[in-house]
Amino acid sequence: MTPQERILQLRKQLHEHNHNYYVLSAPTISDFKFDALLRELQELEDAHPEMFDPSSPTQRVGSDIAKGFKQVAHKYPMLSLGNTYSKSEVADFYERVKRALNEEFEICCELKFDGSSISLTYRDGKLVQAVTRGDGEKGDDVTANVKTIRSVPLVLKGSGWPAEFEIRGEILMPWKVFEELNAERERAGEPLFANPRNAASGTLKLMDPAEVAKRKLDAYLYFMLGEELPATGHYENLEAAREWGFKISDTTRKCRTLDEVFAFIDHFDTARKELPVATDGIVLKVNSLRQQKNLGYTAKSPRWAIAYKFQAERALTRLNEVTYQVGRTGVVTPVANLDAVLLSGTIVKRASLHNADIIEKFDLHIGDMVYVEKGGEIIPKITGVDTDARLLLGNKVKFITKCPVCGTPLVRNEGEAAHYCPNERGCAPQMRARIEHFVSREAMNIETIGPETVEMLFNYGLIKDITDLYRLQEEDFLLLPRLGAKSVDNLLAAVKQSCNVPFERVLFALGIRHVGATVAKRLVRAFGNIDAIMNASVSDLMAVDDIGERIAASVNGFFATPHNREIVEKLRAAGLKFEIEEEVLQGRTDILAGKSIVISGVFTHHSRDEYKDMIERNGGKSVGSVSKATSFILAGDNMGPSKLEKANKLNIRLVTEDEFLQMLAGTGE
Ligand code: IVH
Repeated sequence: MTPQERILQLRKQLHEHNHNYYVLSAPTISDFKFDALLRELQELEDAHPEMFDPSSPTQRVGSDIAKGFKQVAHKYPMLSLGNTYSKSEVADFYERVKRALNEEFEICCELKFDGSSISLTYRDGKLVQAVTRGDGEKGDDVTANVKTIRSVPLVLKGSGWPAEFEIRGEILMPWKVFEELNAERERAGEPLFANPRNAASGTLKLMDPAEVAKRKLDAYLYFMLGEELPATGHYENLEAAREWGFKISDTTRKCRTLDEVFAFIDHFDTARKELPVATDGIVLKVNSLRQQKNLGYTAKSPRWAIAYKFQAERALTRLNEVTYQVGRTGVVTPVANLDAVLLSGTIVKRASLHNADIIEKFDLHIGDMVYVEKGGEIIPKITGVDTDARLLLGNKVKFITKCPVCGTPLVRNEGEAAHYCPNERGCAPQMRARIEHFVSREAMNIETIGPETVEMLFNYGLIKDITDLYRLQEEDFLLLPRLGAKSVDNLLAAVKQSCNVPFERVLFALGIRHVGATVAKRLVRAFGNIDAIMNASVSDLMAVDDIGERIAASVNGFFATPHNREIVEKLRAAGLKFEIEEEVLQGRTDILAGKSIVISGVFTHHSRDEYKDMIERNGGKSVGSVSKATSFILAGDNMGPSKLEKANKLNIRLVTEDEFLQMLAGTGE
């Protein structure tokens, strides 16, 4: 078999395995074997760039970075659905359809998925474009990001698909992924996503497809459009789509009577809670495409469909007290303490009030009867007050002006909703939470120290900040309850072991606001050591890929504080790593310092990712789109026509692959 034939064979096999795993949830080979096949394909493709194919399974890793999304007009506008919360309005809809058609009809009942809607275009069996809903007329071209979603087929299976068609559906972040993502963001001091819908649409709009790939999105499709669809019914078209490899929910049912429709609604009102993804209702669609056409559209939505939305579960209970929590970064969150009440199967005693503005909006008084809801969110929230139930007016809830723990006056930044306690070094919950973050698995991974141990060591005055961990001695523990000699040994060994943790994780562990694991990695790659990062100006920091003003200002501000520099020095003296590892460092130069380089086209000697890496290792910046600020374009074969045109217009130099390699070897210009 020639390498070319093997490439085609591997692509076919990998598409199949992807489908088995992500669509059917029934893999037929191990992850290990899958990875090995994918690696083999990647190597062959690297060696045979003439075989480049945008639909190859290797393209799901998302190496094709594009800054800013192109706006694309929808061929068919993306309409919304009429909404109702009441079954009697569902019955009205049914009667209206019956009267208008005056013949037999079927209603297709489906779940209403609560994510971010997307329209996919397939031409000759290949995914060519993925566009968000936008304003319904035009949306953002997020093709590179959608390609990273494993359940979206890049190449269709089977046969019989129209030469061109669109298929629409919902991009979702499964509950499990959502919860993990939020836990990670909490540890990094980043704002949390309120629900999986926001997380999915936020992820879809990330500029870095490689980052999107990590977020494990999923996609269900529920609507096909085109000139030559395979069947005359909506349900049957989706059945065909399932054969072509799309993920189509198997919960969909065709109903012949209103009673059957109601039975479907009642069943899923409870059953949906067991589903891996968020749903917020049921969609009813007249099944026959001919009948759909007969019924037509209003200006905003089809007359042949309606959405029945589930009532968010809500309970009424008494507000007894408002307390305040101080987080790692000092943000103060008001918490409503309630009379215990049963909500979606769990007992709720506390609910978030988010911030001062919300308290003001509801004009909250102690003793008020308040509505608590648990919708898409995991933390219940107060959504209203029953003012009629106010017999005696309790004290008005006033947001505190001083930190509930240390008494420092709170501050609120212009344009931000949150109040925070600025006493970073003296406010116990902030100090404790910083240590907890430092020892956590993603940071220094000092496993033996959980939150309870941190609390005990902190309360006994053995550790005040992270540097104290490295001064702990066996005798310090003599006075502590609960810790046996063995545990103490383990703990001290784990602390010592943490000196081997690579620099990027040490930087993350410092707990700088807005510096999560990925940002830390970027900074370490770009600057190499802590001194360079500490001395970087805001604009130096912003020159790094994906580091914006907010992050740059936070990093710069952190190291402008002498105390934080002292912490670094103490940790350095304790033996922690503050430099990038030797292997990564090798091959670093500043030959490309200050250069902003666009990579475009197909290459012979190295992959795109390798070139991107080389640019960064040699001090340059790899950017996605051509602008006045572009220093040159690293141009391979078949460079994109729009980039070429722009480069010519702006008079930007094209550098060939060989010229570029000479440049790095120091033999070119
Ligand atoms: S059909 C013309 N089916 O709900 C009808 N939509 O307000 C096109 N949605 O924008 C939509 N699940 O994002 C349809 N099974 C489903 C759906 C669904 C969720 C979303 C979709 C749409 C919105 C309608």
